[in-house]
Amino acid sequence: MTETQQDHQHTDLTGRVAIVTGAGSGIGRATAIALARAGARVLGVGRRHEALQATAAHHPGIVAHPADLRAPDAPAEVARAATQRWGRIDVLVNNAGATAMMPLAETDADRVAALFALNVTAPSLLAAAALPHLRDQRGTIVNVSSTYGHRPMPGAAHYAASKAAIEQLTRCWALELAPEGVRVNALAPGPTESEALSAAGLTEADVARVKESEAAQIPLGRRGEPDEVAQWVLRLADPGTTWLTGQVLTIDGGLELT
Ligand SMILES: NC(=O)c1ccc[n+]([C@@H]2O[C@H](COP(=O)([O-])OP(=O)(O)OC[C@H]3O[C@@H](n4cnc5c(N)ncnc54)[C@H](OP(=O)(O)O)[C@@H]3O)[C@@H](O)[C@H]2O)c1
Repeated sequence: MTETQQDHQHTDLTGRVAIVTGAGSGIGRATAIALARAGARVLGVGRRHEALQATAAHHPGIVAHPADLRAPDAPAEVARAATQRWGRIDVLVNNAGATAMMPLAETDADRVAALFALNVTAPSLLAAAALPHLRDQRGTIVNVSSTYGHRPMPGAAHYAASKAAIEQLTRCWALELAPEGVRVNALAPGPTESEALSAAGLTEADVARVKESEAAQIPLGRRGEPDEVAQWVLRLADPGTTWLTGQVLTIDGGLELT
């Protein structure tokens, strides 16, 4: 049986190695668990060791690897940690990211730089560090964008722009790496339950207000659950998904249509 003939209902990642950034919460935690349940050995990366340990407690295939991806050496060190431990990298999920509310009048150079360092530079450096190993395995990269990577978000233009950047990086890398059999795709989730809003510095009352207004805008009538996004990371990473590259798949309960 060829890989294309596999039963796609049951992604089998046995023997494969994945790096998932932002694995200590939200979409990253759900993704690490989904990939490990499919048989992968998963290096879960994030700054908070305890949060990563809590993710690792869900499955023995997950190893916590604390790192601040904005640190200059971190991306190379993360790729090295995966290969030293398991000898290969098959899947890179660039999920760690931050949101920043920043109206134009409040534009601040340090905040712009910090946002792009995490949402754009870190995934780029990590993909570059993992590339020799992805080439060896004809592996795959899944980047996490946002609905707001391709629709405007007033008051958070730089967040939206950083996600637009990761979508265009996805297309460029897909074309660049296609001759080597490395597929690159992105997921663009809509508003999903996670720590993102509180991590952006919003008060509890603001978080509740934003959640309510988002749910009201979404045609399916609610925000998403992290696992509803993670299942699509799994499909994009599935070695049986052999002919899909350079795509941005929006998972947002229909928000993009409004
Ligand atoms: N939730 C949504 O509504 C939504 C919608 C569209 C797109 N997204 C995107 O989905 C991705 C996941 O976000 P989420 O919603 O699951 O939010 P989240 O719970 O805040 O997850 C973000 C993760 O990134 C990690 N992280 C932040 N800064 C880091 C750094 N410097 N180095 C390493 N790790 C870092 C965080 O862990 P530490 O704090 O421990 O480092 C955290 O686990 C992000 O790229 C986000 O932009 C989310």
